[in-house]
Amino acid sequence: MSEAEVVAYETRGRVALLTITRPEKRNALDGQVRCAFLGAMERARRDTEIRAVVVTGAGDKAFVAGADIAEFEGRTAVDQWRVMKAASIYEAVERSPKPVIAAINGWCLGGGMELALACDLRVASTAARMGQPEVNLGIIPGGGGTQRLPRVVGLGAALRLILTGEVIGAEEALRLRLVDEVVEPAVLLDRALAIAALIASKSPVAVAAAKEATRAALSLPLDDGLKLETALFQVCFASADKAEGVRAFLEKRSPEFTGR
Ligand code: COA
Repeated sequence: MSEAEVVAYETRGRVALLTITRPEKRNALDGQVRCAFLGAMERARRDTEIRAVVVTGAGDKAFVAGADIAEFEGRTAVDQWRVMKAASIYEAVERSPKPVIAAINGWCLGGGMELALACDLRVASTAARMGQPEVNLGIIPGGGGTQRLPRVVGLGAALRLILTGEVIGAEEALRLRLVDEVVEPAVLLDRALAIAALIASKSPVAVAAAKEATRAALSLPLDDGLKLETALFQVCFASADKAEGVRAFLEKRSPEFTGR
């Protein structure tokens, strides 16, 4: 399969829909999928028409069932070290100025869970099954799971999932705030696309600044975070979108943001 086939790229208005398409392997992340995914994220970043991204998995069984375990067999530590020096799909998502929403349609395990954790919002179908089962393979999460999971669900729940490898259903994921919403499978994609479209209707300058400032809250001391917020607030004041947003409010009409 070509890269374009393993990660399908479609546009729905101002939203890019990325579908990881390897259903016969439960959309497991092999080298080709990772490379294609990075290409698709870069395409979304460069496309000035696109303002938000939705990521999902092909078929009705899996979002992503993790790293491709078959690639681990026989791989040396040095081989793996080299693989992990390559550009990271998780960082591409986390650093994307355009918000990324995971539409979790089934198995969401290991690297799939880590991909969802790197996303800005997670919508799950009632069929979603989520977990970090790496301990079953004698390894640990390597795509940021040990760091991002506790930041999303807190240390206790993260340790429980990572140490036991337990797989949880959508309702439990919602209870832990691992996902933001749970919907019926038939409406999952529409719901994720609707949230993305709502974000896409806002100022891209403000959205990118808001994502950067809010995410920085997890890594910066408060004083530094507040300084970053102030700086990004001022960046917004330099934008045509701020002028348009304020003018539209005063003129009692909807704003038309251009991202400038
Ligand atoms: N890597 C490589 N192949 C995988 C995979 C993965 N992470 N997950 C599933 N597959 C493959 C299976 O080997 C199988 O291939 P085959 O048809 O050539 O034998 C195919 O996908 C279908 O999987 P199967 O187990 O038959 O489907 P299922 O619906 O009964 O179960 C899972 C799905 C996801 C529960 C099960 O495949 C599984 O436990 N996968 C591994 C999950 C994991 O440990 N992920 C973390 C990796 S670090």
